[in-house]
Amino acid sequence: MGADDRAVDGAGSTRRAWVVGSINRDIVGYVARHGRPGETVLGTRSAEFPGGKGANQAVALARLGSSVSLIGRVGADAFGTVMQAFLASEGVDVTGVSVNTSTPTGVALIVVDATSENIITVLPGANMDWPGEIGSYFRPARGDIVSAQLEIPIEIVEAAFAATRVAGALTVLNPSPYAARAVELMTLTDVLVVNEGELAQMTGQAVERASIDTVTVACRAAFAKGVRAVVVTLGADGAVVVTADGAEVIAGLAVVPRDTTGAGDCFTGALIAEMLRGAGIVDAARFAVRAAAVSVTRDGAAASYPRRDEI
Ligand code: RIB
Repeated sequence: MGADDRAVDGAGSTRRAWVVGSINRDIVGYVARHGRPGETVLGTRSAEFPGGKGANQAVALARLGSSVSLIGRVGADAFGTVMQAFLASEGVDVTGVSVNTSTPTGVALIVVDATSENIITVLPGANMDWPGEIGSYFRPARGDIVSAQLEIPIEIVEAAFAATRVAGALTVLNPSPYAARAVELMTLTDVLVVNEGELAQMTGQAVERASIDTVTVACRAAFAKGVRAVVVTLGADGAVVVTADGAEVIAGLAVVPRDTTGAGDCFTGALIAEMLRGAGIVDAARFAVRAAAVSVTRDGAAASYPRRDEI
């Protein structure tokens, strides 16, 4: 059994996480209700937060005690400087974060309504402007876990996952935002973390939350591509973990949500943090559901993530 099997099966030891992904500055407005196209609504307050799915996952990992390196891109501007400083202050290794002098740092425009639902527009900037290769700092070792999302060029994710396979480490893909080419990435993916919509898009199968059968059928389509475990996030309803052994439903926690932005990134980071500590994937998902539940009770994405003693 290889190191990647140990991470899924729960007999591993301490290892490093590598997050290959985006770094954004989140500009957030809170409103009573979302506007319709063409309508102007008055909000209640605004805020600026750290964000980007890659940066968020890295912070979730660091706050839960994992060693984590982030591979990403920022612009040569104030947002880039503040994001690098924030990540470093959280204990994230930012050696692999490079500065793009011709493209600005990614920005996400986020509006959160009174029910905590958000609408997000991402302006990727430097996140989508890579020199064509992942860079020499990215050197996963056997037993490490490499995670990626899709706010960066998919060619970079493909290269990262291919190198991860060669190294004997484990890959975790959160295909968000979905892109058709992500389907091909499943051949290089060990653990797929998706919401129901992404599961349907990735597998071409109809998925209904109330029907574990539809979830299982869709996951089998992912297994046929080489994926070994699928974790389906269900928001407030928890998650489902599907492996060759069957499906395990994990109930959500009853919390009063304030801002759900980045809850999925918190979930994925916490899942990986527990797998790095040797937890099996079902136990890791149970922990991740609790971590994400804490995060939605606070404002912002990475800024809202819990430390281990808060879970
Ligand atoms: O998943 C939440 C994140 O999506 C936000 O932090 C925003 O930056 C976008 O990347």
